[in-house]
Amino acid sequence: MATEHSFALNTLGLRMAPSLLAADFSRLREQVALVEAGGADLLHLDVMDGHFVPNISYGPCVIEAIRPHSKLFFDAHLMIEEPARYAEAFVKSGCDHITFHIEVTDEPAKVADVIRTLGASVGICINPTTPVSAIGSVLDAVDMVLVMSVWPGFGGQSFIADVLPKVRELASRMRPDQRLEIDGGIGPGTIEKAAEAGADTMVAGSAIFGQNDPVAAMEALRVAATDAMTARRTG
Ligand code: DX5
Ligand code: ZN
Repeated sequence: MATEHSFALNTLGLRMAPSLLAADFSRLREQVALVEAGGADLLHLDVMDGHFVPNISYGPCVIEAIRPHSKLFFDAHLMIEEPARYAEAFVKSGCDHITFHIEVTDEPAKVADVIRTLGASVGICINPTTPVSAIGSVLDAVDMVLVMSVWPGFGGQSFIADVLPKVRELASRMRPDQRLEIDGGIGPGTIEKAAEAGADTMVAGSAIFGQNDPVAAMEALRVAATDAMTARRTG
């Protein structure tokens, strides 16, 4: 269940979050084991409903099927309408954390409460053109903010650099125990920009699972991001 893998999301430090969306779906168990052995910190799980985003991915049964085979922290990114309605199914399937989109609700604090009461940590996500002000009322109540650096719905898109000022703004406003995640188009050349702006939790799909050697690719990204984070702190 959720708490078993609830390692410290609230401590400072870089986290690599491979997105399962880019994995080979015919051998999910092996793909998860590969990045787990290779040092992934979180497993990013992209859930799409075909309404909020124009694509359908997978849901609780797939997550439940891989849960017994991994000790990774399961970081669910719900790109769905009515996240409060489905939160329980995702926590029961083994998600340790649930991020929902601000664009789907007028009552983000209530949704956050529902998720927390179920025993998972909570994230709030903003689309590329949604301003930071949209999550002002719920910012203090979440464990993580997720900034989309592509339009949600598909892997393999190009990084939208226009979101970097939002990352900087959030990094300056958020507490040290809150994580700032970025998702979409993260790879060599863009992960440094995200880290320089203050993101600390890096989602990457095609730049990890889409590579011949996913573990080597993840490690190279980690090194690049660590260097950029260090430069940010010292410079
Ligand atoms: C997009 C998803 C992403 C996606 C990222 O809707 O939220 O997590 O898997 O894929 P890449 O890293 O290929 O841009
Ligand atoms: Zn995602």
